[in-house]
Amino acid sequence: MALDIIIGAQWGDEGKGRITDLMAAEADIVARYSGGDNAGHTVTVGEEIFKLHLVPSGIIHPGVVAFIGNGTVINPRVLLKELDQLAARGVDISPGRLKISRTAHLITPAHVALDQAQEAARGEQKIGTTKRGIGPAYVDKTQRSGLRTHLMATPEELADALLAHVEEKNHILATLYGAPTLDARAIAAEYAGYAQRLAPYLVDGPQYLATALEQGRRVLAEGAQGTLLDIDHGTYPFVTSSSPTAGGVITGLGVGPRNVNRVVGIAKAFTTRVGGGPFPAEVEGDLALRLRGTGENPWDEYGTTTGRPRRVGWLDTVMLRFARRVNSLTEVALTKLDVLSGIETLQVNVAYELDGVRIDYFPSDLATLSRCRPFYETLPGWQEDITGVRSLADLPENARYYIDFVAAQVDLPIKMVSVGPSRNQVVFLQ
Ligand code: GDP
Ligand code: IMO
Ligand code: MG
Repeated sequence: MALDIIIGAQWGDEGKGRITDLMAAEADIVARYSGGDNAGHTVTVGEEIFKLHLVPSGIIHPGVVAFIGNGTVINPRVLLKELDQLAARGVDISPGRLKISRTAHLITPAHVALDQAQEAARGEQKIGTTKRGIGPAYVDKTQRSGLRTHLMATPEELADALLAHVEEKNHILATLYGAPTLDARAIAAEYAGYAQRLAPYLVDGPQYLATALEQGRRVLAEGAQGTLLDIDHGTYPFVTSSSPTAGGVITGLGVGPRNVNRVVGIAKAFTTRVGGGPFPAEVEGDLALRLRGTGENPWDEYGTTTGRPRRVGWLDTVMLRFARRVNSLTEVALTKLDVLSGIETLQVNVAYELDGVRIDYFPSDLATLSRCRPFYETLPGWQEDITGVRSLADLPENARYYIDFVAAQVDLPIKMVSVGPSRNQVVFLQ
Protein backbone atom coordinates (compact mmCIF):
# COMPACT_ATOMS: atom_id res chain seq x y z
CA MET A 1 0.00 0.00 0.00
CA ALA A 2 2.59 2.52 -1.03
CA LEU A 3 0.76 4.50 -3.68
CA ASP A 4 -0.43 7.95 -2.66
CA ILE A 5 -2.43 10.03 -5.09
CA ILE A 6 -2.75 13.77 -5.62
CA ILE A 7 -5.92 14.81 -7.44
CA GLY A 8 -7.18 18.21 -8.49
CA ALA A 9 -10.62 18.56 -6.88
CA GLN A 10 -11.82 21.46 -9.04
CA TRP A 11 -11.09 22.64 -12.62
CA GLY A 12 -7.30 22.43 -12.47
CA ASP A 13 -4.64 24.82 -11.17
CA GLU A 14 -5.48 24.00 -7.55
CA GLY A 15 -1.81 23.95 -6.56
CA LYS A 16 -1.14 20.27 -7.30
CA GLY A 17 2.47 21.00 -8.26
CA ARG A 18 3.34 22.65 -4.98
CA ILE A 19 1.65 19.94 -2.88
CA THR A 20 3.37 17.28 -4.99
CA ASP A 21 6.67 18.99 -4.27
CA LEU A 22 5.86 18.87 -0.56
CA MET A 23 4.83 15.21 -0.53
CA ALA A 24 7.68 14.20 -2.88
CA ALA A 25 10.04 14.61 0.05
CA GLU A 26 8.57 11.33 1.36
CA ALA A 27 8.41 9.54 -2.01
CA ASP A 28 10.78 7.48 -4.15
CA ILE A 29 8.92 7.87 -7.45
CA VAL A 30 6.62 10.70 -8.58
CA ALA A 31 4.43 9.69 -11.50
CA ARG A 32 2.25 11.55 -14.00
CA TYR A 33 -0.63 9.31 -15.10
CA SER A 34 -2.75 11.41 -17.44
CA GLY A 35 -2.81 14.48 -19.62
CA GLY A 36 0.12 16.10 -21.36
CA ASP A 37 1.64 19.53 -21.63
CA ASN A 38 -1.78 21.12 -21.19
CA ALA A 39 -0.79 20.96 -17.51
CA GLY A 40 1.18 23.78 -15.93
CA HIS A 41 2.46 23.01 -12.43
CA THR A 42 4.30 25.68 -10.49
CA VAL A 43 6.76 24.84 -7.75
CA THR A 44 8.46 27.58 -5.76
CA VAL A 45 11.64 26.71 -3.90
CA GLY A 46 13.23 29.72 -2.22
CA GLU A 47 13.76 32.33 -4.94
CA GLU A 48 13.39 29.78 -7.73
CA ILE A 49 10.14 29.19 -9.62
CA PHE A 50 9.79 26.01 -11.70
CA LYS A 51 6.93 25.77 -14.22
CA LEU A 52 6.52 22.18 -15.29
CA HIS A 53 4.24 20.93 -18.04
CA LEU A 54 5.19 17.30 -18.63
CA VAL A 55 7.99 16.41 -16.28
CA PRO A 56 6.64 15.32 -12.87
CA SER A 57 7.29 17.87 -10.14
CA GLY A 58 9.29 15.25 -8.19
CA ILE A 59 12.27 15.85 -10.51
CA ILE A 60 13.22 18.82 -8.32
CA HIS A 61 13.99 16.47 -5.38
CA PRO A 62 17.40 14.92 -6.12
CA GLY A 63 16.53 11.49 -4.68
CA VAL A 64 13.25 11.04 -6.53
CA VAL A 65 12.65 9.28 -9.87
CA ALA A 66 10.19 11.08 -12.15
CA PHE A 67 7.94 8.74 -14.10
CA ILE A 68 5.64 9.47 -17.05
CA GLY A 69 2.94 6.81 -17.32
CA ASN A 70 1.13 5.12 -20.19
CA GLY A 71 -2.00 7.25 -19.65
CA THR A 72 -0.22 10.42 -20.74
CA VAL A 73 0.27 12.01 -24.16
CA ILE A 74 3.77 13.31 -24.80
CA ASN A 75 4.91 16.01 -27.17
CA PRO A 76 8.61 15.17 -27.44
CA ARG A 77 9.50 18.67 -28.59
CA VAL A 78 7.99 20.15 -25.42
CA LEU A 79 9.42 17.44 -23.19
CA LEU A 80 12.98 17.96 -24.46
CA LYS A 81 12.70 21.73 -24.14
CA GLU A 82 11.57 21.28 -20.56
CA LEU A 83 14.38 18.83 -19.82
CA ASP A 84 16.94 21.22 -21.31
CA GLN A 85 15.59 24.07 -19.19
CA LEU A 86 15.82 21.91 -16.07
CA ALA A 87 19.37 20.82 -16.94
CA ALA A 88 20.37 24.47 -17.42
CA ARG A 89 19.20 25.07 -13.84
CA GLY A 90 21.34 22.27 -12.50
CA VAL A 91 18.68 19.53 -12.27
CA ASP A 92 19.98 16.03 -13.10
CA ILE A 93 17.85 14.76 -16.00
CA SER A 94 19.79 11.59 -16.77
CA PRO A 95 17.81 8.39 -17.54
CA GLY A 96 18.33 7.32 -13.93
CA ARG A 97 16.09 10.24 -12.88
CA LEU A 98 13.33 10.06 -15.48
CA LYS A 99 11.46 7.05 -16.86
CA ILE A 100 8.92 7.16 -19.69
CA SER A 101 6.45 4.34 -20.20
CA ARG A 102 6.83 2.65 -23.58
CA THR A 103 3.05 2.70 -24.05
CA ALA A 104 2.33 6.40 -23.60
CA HIS A 105 1.21 8.15 -26.77
CA LEU A 106 3.05 10.76 -28.84
CA ILE A 107 1.64 14.15 -29.73
CA THR A 108 2.70 15.35 -33.18
CA PRO A 109 2.53 18.73 -34.94
CA ALA A 110 -0.46 17.29 -36.82
CA HIS A 111 -2.35 16.85 -33.53
CA VAL A 112 -1.53 20.43 -32.59
CA ALA A 113 -2.68 21.73 -35.99
CA LEU A 114 -5.92 19.75 -35.72
CA ASP A 115 -6.61 21.03 -32.19
CA GLN A 116 -6.22 24.59 -33.48
CA ALA A 117 -8.35 24.00 -36.57
CA GLN A 118 -11.12 22.32 -34.58
CA GLU A 119 -11.22 25.11 -31.99
CA ALA A 120 -11.43 27.71 -34.77
CA ALA A 121 -14.24 25.75 -36.43
CA ARG A 122 -16.22 25.57 -33.17
CA GLY A 123 -16.50 29.37 -33.15
CA GLU A 124 -18.72 30.53 -30.28
CA GLN A 125 -18.98 26.93 -29.06
CA LYS A 126 -15.24 26.58 -28.58
CA ILE A 127 -14.01 24.58 -25.60
CA GLY A 128 -11.08 26.88 -24.92
CA THR A 129 -8.47 24.13 -25.15
CA THR A 130 -4.81 24.79 -24.54
CA LYS A 131 -4.24 24.04 -28.26
CA ARG A 132 -1.52 21.55 -27.38
CA GLY A 133 -2.99 18.73 -29.46
CA ILE A 134 -4.29 16.86 -26.42
CA GLY A 135 -7.76 15.99 -27.72
CA PRO A 136 -6.64 14.78 -31.18
CA ALA A 137 -3.87 12.63 -29.61
CA TYR A 138 -6.37 10.90 -27.31
CA VAL A 139 -8.77 10.47 -30.23
CA ASP A 140 -6.06 8.59 -32.12
CA LYS A 141 -5.35 6.51 -29.02
CA THR A 142 -8.96 5.42 -28.58
CA GLN A 143 -9.53 4.84 -32.29
CA ARG A 144 -6.41 2.63 -32.19
CA SER A 145 -4.31 4.60 -34.65
CA GLY A 146 -2.08 6.38 -32.10
CA LEU A 147 1.71 6.51 -32.11
CA ARG A 148 3.07 4.96 -28.96
CA THR A 149 6.32 6.07 -27.38
CA HIS A 150 8.07 2.71 -27.96
CA LEU A 151 8.31 3.69 -31.64
CA MET A 152 11.12 5.99 -30.59
CA ALA A 153 13.30 2.92 -30.09
CA THR A 154 12.83 1.78 -33.71
CA PRO A 155 13.65 4.75 -35.99
CA GLU A 156 12.44 3.22 -39.24
CA GLU A 157 9.08 2.23 -37.83
CA LEU A 158 8.70 5.67 -36.29
CA ALA A 159 9.42 7.37 -39.63
CA ASP A 160 6.93 5.15 -41.50
CA ALA A 161 4.26 5.67 -38.85
CA LEU A 162 4.76 9.45 -38.88
CA LEU A 163 4.60 9.72 -42.66
CA ALA A 164 1.30 7.83 -42.76
CA HIS A 165 -0.04 9.78 -39.76
CA VAL A 166 0.76 13.23 -41.18
CA GLU A 167 -0.64 12.32 -44.61
CA GLU A 168 -3.91 11.25 -43.04
CA LYS A 169 -4.13 14.41 -40.92
CA ASN A 170 -3.20 16.58 -43.91
CA HIS A 171 -6.21 15.18 -45.72
CA ILE A 172 -8.47 16.10 -42.80
CA LEU A 173 -6.88 19.52 -42.30
CA ALA A 174 -7.29 20.43 -45.97
CA THR A 175 -10.69 18.94 -46.75
CA LEU A 176 -12.58 19.45 -43.47
CA TYR A 177 -11.02 22.65 -42.17
CA GLY A 178 -9.39 24.33 -45.18
CA ALA A 179 -6.27 24.61 -43.02
CA PRO A 180 -2.63 24.55 -44.22
CA THR A 181 -1.07 21.09 -44.53
CA LEU A 182 2.18 19.95 -42.94
CA ASP A 183 5.46 18.67 -44.35
CA ALA A 184 5.44 14.98 -43.37
CA ARG A 185 9.10 14.37 -44.24
CA ALA A 186 10.29 17.35 -42.21
CA ILE A 187 8.27 16.14 -39.22
CA ALA A 188 9.68 12.62 -39.55
CA ALA A 189 13.21 14.03 -39.62
CA GLU A 190 12.53 16.27 -36.62
CA TYR A 191 11.09 13.35 -34.63
CA ALA A 192 14.04 11.11 -35.50
CA GLY A 193 16.22 13.54 -33.55
CA TYR A 194 13.84 13.59 -30.58
CA ALA A 195 13.60 9.80 -30.60
CA GLN A 196 17.35 9.43 -30.43
CA ARG A 197 17.45 11.58 -27.30
CA LEU A 198 14.39 10.09 -25.60
CA ALA A 199 14.80 6.35 -26.34
CA PRO A 200 17.15 5.83 -23.35
CA TYR A 201 14.34 6.93 -21.01
CA LEU A 202 11.83 4.28 -22.15
CA VAL A 203 10.80 1.51 -19.75
CA ASP A 204 8.01 -1.04 -19.45
CA GLY A 205 5.98 1.22 -17.17
CA PRO A 206 3.64 -1.17 -15.31
CA GLN A 207 6.50 -3.63 -14.84
CA TYR A 208 8.78 -0.93 -13.50
CA LEU A 209 6.18 0.31 -11.01
CA ALA A 210 5.12 -3.19 -9.92
CA THR A 211 8.72 -4.04 -9.09
CA ALA A 212 9.19 -0.76 -7.24
CA LEU A 213 6.03 -1.31 -5.19
CA GLU A 214 7.05 -4.90 -4.37
CA GLN A 215 10.35 -3.55 -3.11
CA GLY A 216 8.48 -1.22 -0.79
CA ARG A 217 9.29 1.96 -2.70
CA ARG A 218 6.80 4.78 -2.27
CA VAL A 219 5.05 6.06 -5.37
CA LEU A 220 3.25 9.39 -5.52
CA ALA A 221 0.83 9.92 -8.41
CA GLU A 222 0.78 13.57 -9.49
CA GLY A 223 -2.58 14.52 -10.91
CA ALA A 224 -2.86 16.93 -13.80
CA GLN A 225 -6.03 18.90 -14.66
CA GLY A 226 -8.87 18.32 -12.19
CA THR A 227 -11.93 16.26 -11.38
CA LEU A 228 -14.33 18.59 -13.22
CA LEU A 229 -12.14 18.37 -16.35
CA ASP A 230 -12.41 14.55 -16.46
CA ILE A 231 -13.66 13.17 -19.78
CA ASP A 232 -16.30 11.06 -17.97
CA HIS A 233 -17.05 12.93 -14.77
CA GLY A 234 -16.34 16.55 -15.68
CA THR A 235 -18.49 19.23 -17.23
CA TYR A 236 -18.57 17.54 -20.65
CA PRO A 237 -17.89 18.73 -23.33
CA PHE A 238 -15.96 21.49 -21.54
CA VAL A 239 -13.40 19.01 -20.28
CA THR A 240 -10.04 17.61 -21.29
CA SER A 241 -9.74 14.30 -23.14
CA SER A 242 -8.25 12.16 -20.35
CA SER A 243 -9.09 10.83 -16.88
CA PRO A 244 -7.57 13.03 -14.17
CA THR A 245 -9.73 11.32 -11.52
CA ALA A 246 -8.52 8.46 -9.31
CA GLY A 247 -9.67 5.81 -11.79
CA GLY A 248 -7.24 7.32 -14.28
CA VAL A 249 -4.34 6.58 -11.92
CA ILE A 250 -5.05 2.87 -12.08
CA THR A 251 -5.23 2.65 -15.87
CA GLY A 252 -2.77 5.48 -16.50
CA LEU A 253 0.01 3.81 -14.52
CA GLY A 254 -1.01 0.17 -14.89
CA VAL A 255 -1.15 -0.60 -11.17
CA GLY A 256 -4.01 -2.22 -9.26
CA PRO A 257 -6.33 -0.35 -6.86
CA ARG A 258 -5.18 -2.34 -3.82
CA ASN A 259 -1.89 -0.41 -3.87
CA VAL A 260 -3.63 2.85 -3.05
CA ASN A 261 -3.15 4.45 0.33
CA ARG A 262 -3.90 8.19 0.59
CA VAL A 263 -5.97 10.07 -2.01
CA VAL A 264 -5.36 13.76 -1.42
CA GLY A 265 -7.79 16.17 -3.05
CA ILE A 266 -6.24 19.55 -3.75
CA ALA A 267 -8.70 22.41 -3.53
CA LYS A 268 -8.03 26.09 -3.84
CA ALA A 269 -9.71 28.15 -1.08
CA PHE A 270 -11.84 29.66 -3.87
CA THR A 271 -12.56 28.37 -7.40
CA THR A 272 -11.02 29.07 -10.80
CA ARG A 273 -11.46 27.75 -14.30
CA VAL A 274 -9.84 28.48 -17.66
CA GLY A 275 -11.84 27.88 -20.80
CA GLY A 276 -15.57 27.68 -21.42
CA GLY A 277 -18.42 25.92 -19.62
CA PRO A 278 -20.74 26.45 -16.66
CA PHE A 279 -19.41 27.75 -13.34
CA PRO A 280 -22.24 28.22 -10.82
CA ALA A 281 -20.23 30.08 -8.13
CA GLU A 282 -18.48 32.40 -10.62
CA VAL A 283 -18.13 36.06 -9.63
CA GLU A 284 -17.46 39.12 -11.76
CA GLY A 285 -16.55 42.77 -11.31
CA ASP A 286 -14.36 44.10 -8.48
CA LEU A 287 -14.52 40.90 -6.50
CA ALA A 288 -13.27 38.91 -9.51
CA LEU A 289 -10.36 41.31 -9.90
CA ARG A 290 -9.62 40.91 -6.21
CA LEU A 291 -9.58 37.08 -6.39
CA ARG A 292 -7.74 36.92 -9.72
CA GLY A 293 -5.10 39.52 -8.91
CA THR A 294 -3.65 41.95 -11.41
CA GLY A 295 -0.91 39.68 -12.69
CA GLU A 296 1.76 41.40 -10.57
CA ASN A 297 2.30 38.36 -8.36
CA PRO A 298 3.49 35.09 -9.86
CA TRP A 299 0.54 33.30 -8.24
CA ASP A 300 -2.15 35.59 -9.67
CA GLU A 301 -4.77 33.74 -11.67
CA TYR A 302 -3.38 33.75 -15.20
CA GLY A 303 -2.81 30.36 -16.89
CA THR A 304 0.66 28.81 -16.52
CA THR A 305 0.33 27.19 -19.94
CA THR A 306 -1.60 29.78 -21.93
CA GLY A 307 -1.35 33.04 -19.94
CA ARG A 308 -5.15 33.45 -20.16
CA PRO A 309 -6.89 35.20 -17.23
CA ARG A 310 -8.67 32.52 -15.21
CA ARG A 311 -12.37 32.83 -14.41
CA VAL A 312 -12.84 33.03 -10.63
CA GLY A 313 -15.53 32.37 -8.05
CA TRP A 314 -16.24 31.39 -4.47
CA LEU A 315 -15.40 28.00 -3.06
CA ASP A 316 -17.98 25.39 -4.09
CA THR A 317 -18.33 22.60 -1.53
CA VAL A 318 -20.97 20.81 -3.62
CA MET A 319 -18.23 20.30 -6.19
CA LEU A 320 -15.79 19.16 -3.52
CA ARG A 321 -18.27 16.58 -2.20
CA PHE A 322 -18.58 15.31 -5.76
CA ALA A 323 -14.76 15.11 -5.99
CA ARG A 324 -14.68 13.24 -2.69
CA ARG A 325 -17.11 10.64 -4.02
CA VAL A 326 -15.65 10.16 -7.50
CA ASN A 327 -12.08 9.86 -6.23
CA SER A 328 -12.55 8.26 -2.79
CA LEU A 329 -10.62 11.19 -1.35
CA THR A 330 -9.16 10.50 2.08
CA GLU A 331 -8.31 14.13 2.84
CA VAL A 332 -8.11 17.63 1.44
CA ALA A 333 -5.22 20.07 1.05
CA LEU A 334 -6.58 23.62 0.90
CA THR A 335 -4.36 26.03 -1.03
CA LYS A 336 -4.09 29.82 -1.42
CA LEU A 337 -5.90 30.63 1.80
CA ASP A 338 -3.71 33.77 1.99
CA VAL A 339 -5.48 35.19 -1.07
CA LEU A 340 -8.70 35.53 0.95
CA SER A 341 -7.05 37.77 3.59
CA GLY A 342 -8.54 41.24 3.68
CA ILE A 343 -11.93 40.40 2.16
CA GLU A 344 -14.58 41.53 4.61
CA THR A 345 -17.09 38.71 4.21
CA LEU A 346 -16.59 35.43 2.40
CA GLN A 347 -19.14 33.25 0.69
CA VAL A 348 -19.02 29.50 0.35
CA ASN A 349 -21.40 27.63 -1.93
CA VAL A 350 -23.05 24.80 0.02
CA ALA A 351 -25.93 23.72 -2.27
CA TYR A 352 -27.57 24.65 -5.56
CA GLU A 353 -30.95 25.98 -6.38
CA LEU A 354 -32.29 23.99 -9.34
CA ASP A 355 -35.62 25.19 -10.77
CA GLY A 356 -36.60 26.56 -7.37
CA VAL A 357 -35.57 23.44 -5.45
CA ARG A 358 -32.53 23.15 -3.19
CA ILE A 359 -30.21 20.26 -4.12
CA ASP A 360 -26.95 19.29 -2.46
CA TYR A 361 -25.37 17.18 -5.20
CA PHE A 362 -23.41 18.07 -8.34
CA PRO A 363 -25.50 17.31 -11.46
CA SER A 364 -23.65 15.14 -13.94
CA ASP A 365 -25.03 16.70 -17.12
CA LEU A 366 -24.36 20.12 -18.51
CA ALA A 367 -27.96 21.12 -19.19
CA THR A 368 -28.93 20.58 -15.55
CA LEU A 369 -25.76 22.17 -14.18
CA SER A 370 -26.32 25.25 -16.36
CA ARG A 371 -29.63 25.85 -14.55
CA CYS A 372 -28.06 25.62 -11.08
CA ARG A 373 -27.72 28.79 -9.04
CA PRO A 374 -25.37 29.00 -6.07
CA PHE A 375 -26.70 28.79 -2.53
CA TYR A 376 -24.21 30.64 -0.35
CA GLU A 377 -23.38 30.69 3.33
CA THR A 378 -21.70 33.92 4.38
CA LEU A 379 -18.67 33.69 6.64
CA PRO A 380 -16.70 36.45 8.36
CA GLY A 381 -13.36 37.27 6.74
CA TRP A 382 -10.05 38.18 8.37
CA GLN A 383 -7.76 41.13 7.81
CA GLU A 384 -4.41 39.72 8.95
CA ASP A 385 -1.63 38.77 6.56
CA ILE A 386 -1.28 35.01 7.12
CA THR A 387 1.63 34.29 4.78
CA GLY A 388 4.02 33.92 7.73
CA VAL A 389 1.78 31.59 9.75
CA ARG A 390 3.04 28.02 10.22
CA SER A 391 0.71 26.61 12.88
CA LEU A 392 -3.05 26.34 13.19
CA ALA A 393 -3.07 28.19 16.50
CA ASP A 394 -1.49 31.25 14.85
CA LEU A 395 -4.17 31.58 12.17
CA PRO A 396 -6.84 34.23 12.82
CA GLU A 397 -9.97 32.81 14.40
CA ASN A 398 -12.06 33.47 11.30
CA ALA A 399 -9.54 31.66 9.09
CA ARG A 400 -9.74 28.65 11.38
CA TYR A 401 -13.51 28.89 11.24
CA TYR A 402 -13.35 28.92 7.42
CA ILE A 403 -11.21 25.75 7.41
CA ASP A 404 -13.50 23.99 9.91
CA PHE A 405 -16.58 25.02 7.95
CA VAL A 406 -15.20 23.64 4.67
CA ALA A 407 -14.06 20.39 6.33
CA ALA A 408 -17.54 19.90 7.79
CA GLN A 409 -19.26 20.63 4.46
CA VAL A 410 -17.01 18.24 2.56
CA ASP A 411 -16.96 15.74 5.40
CA LEU A 412 -13.22 15.14 5.10
CA PRO A 413 -10.21 16.13 7.18
CA ILE A 414 -8.22 19.07 5.82
CA LYS A 415 -4.65 18.02 6.51
CA MET A 416 -2.70 20.84 4.88
CA VAL A 417 -3.44 24.51 4.30
CA SER A 418 -1.06 26.57 2.20
CA VAL A 419 -0.61 30.26 2.86
CA GLY A 420 1.82 31.19 0.08
CA PRO A 421 3.53 29.52 -2.89
CA SER A 422 6.84 28.62 -1.21
CA ARG A 423 7.68 25.15 0.00
CA ASN A 424 7.53 26.16 3.69
CA GLN A 425 4.37 28.30 3.47
CA VAL A 426 2.14 25.55 4.73
CA VAL A 427 0.24 24.72 7.91
CA PHE A 428 -0.09 21.01 8.78
CA LEU A 429 -3.25 20.08 10.67
CA GLN A 430 -3.77 17.06 12.86
P1 GDP B 1 -1.44 23.25 -10.52
O1 GDP B 1 -1.67 23.22 -11.97
O2 GDP B 1 -2.54 22.59 -9.75
O3 GDP B 1 -0.09 22.73 -10.11
O4 GDP B 1 -1.48 24.78 -10.08
P2 GDP B 1 -0.74 26.01 -10.85
O5 GDP B 1 0.71 25.94 -10.57
O6 GDP B 1 -1.17 26.07 -12.27
O7 GDP B 1 -1.43 27.25 -10.15
C1 GDP B 1 -1.29 27.49 -8.80
C2 GDP B 1 -0.61 28.85 -8.59
O8 GDP B 1 -0.77 29.24 -7.24
C3 GDP B 1 0.90 28.81 -8.82
O9 GDP B 1 1.32 30.08 -9.27
C4 GDP B 1 1.45 28.54 -7.41
O10 GDP B 1 2.77 29.00 -7.21
C5 GDP B 1 0.50 29.33 -6.58
N1 GDP B 1 0.26 28.83 -5.23
C6 GDP B 1 0.15 27.55 -4.80
N2 GDP B 1 -0.18 27.52 -3.49
C7 GDP B 1 -0.29 28.81 -3.09
C8 GDP B 1 -0.65 29.45 -1.86
O11 GDP B 1 -0.93 28.82 -0.85
N3 GDP B 1 -0.69 30.82 -1.86
C9 GDP B 1 -0.39 31.57 -2.96
N4 GDP B 1 -0.47 32.89 -2.87
N5 GDP B 1 -0.05 31.00 -4.12
C10 GDP B 1 -0.01 29.65 -4.20
P1 IMO C 1 -3.24 21.77 -14.59
O1 IMO C 1 -2.60 20.41 -14.50
C1 IMO C 1 -6.58 24.20 -15.92
C2 IMO C 1 -8.61 22.97 -19.61
C3 IMO C 1 -8.48 23.93 -20.78
C4 IMO C 1 -9.82 23.70 -21.44
C5 IMO C 1 -10.02 22.21 -21.27
C6 IMO C 1 -9.60 21.37 -22.48
O2 IMO C 1 -2.26 22.88 -14.68
O3 IMO C 1 -4.25 21.93 -13.51
P2 IMO C 1 -7.24 20.64 -23.43
O4 IMO C 1 -6.09 21.44 -23.95
O5 IMO C 1 -6.88 19.76 -22.28
O6 IMO C 1 -7.95 19.89 -24.50
O7 IMO C 1 -8.29 21.74 -22.88
O8 IMO C 1 -9.24 21.83 -20.16
N1 IMO C 1 -7.33 22.54 -19.01
C7 IMO C 1 -6.84 23.01 -17.85
N2 IMO C 1 -7.30 23.98 -17.03
N3 IMO C 1 -5.47 23.53 -15.58
C8 IMO C 1 -5.01 22.53 -16.37
O9 IMO C 1 -3.97 21.74 -16.02
C9 IMO C 1 -5.68 22.26 -17.59
N4 IMO C 1 -5.49 21.39 -18.60
C10 IMO C 1 -6.52 21.55 -19.45
O10 IMO C 1 -8.34 25.25 -20.33
O11 IMO C 1 -10.82 24.36 -20.73
MG1 MG D 1 -1.79 24.53 -13.59
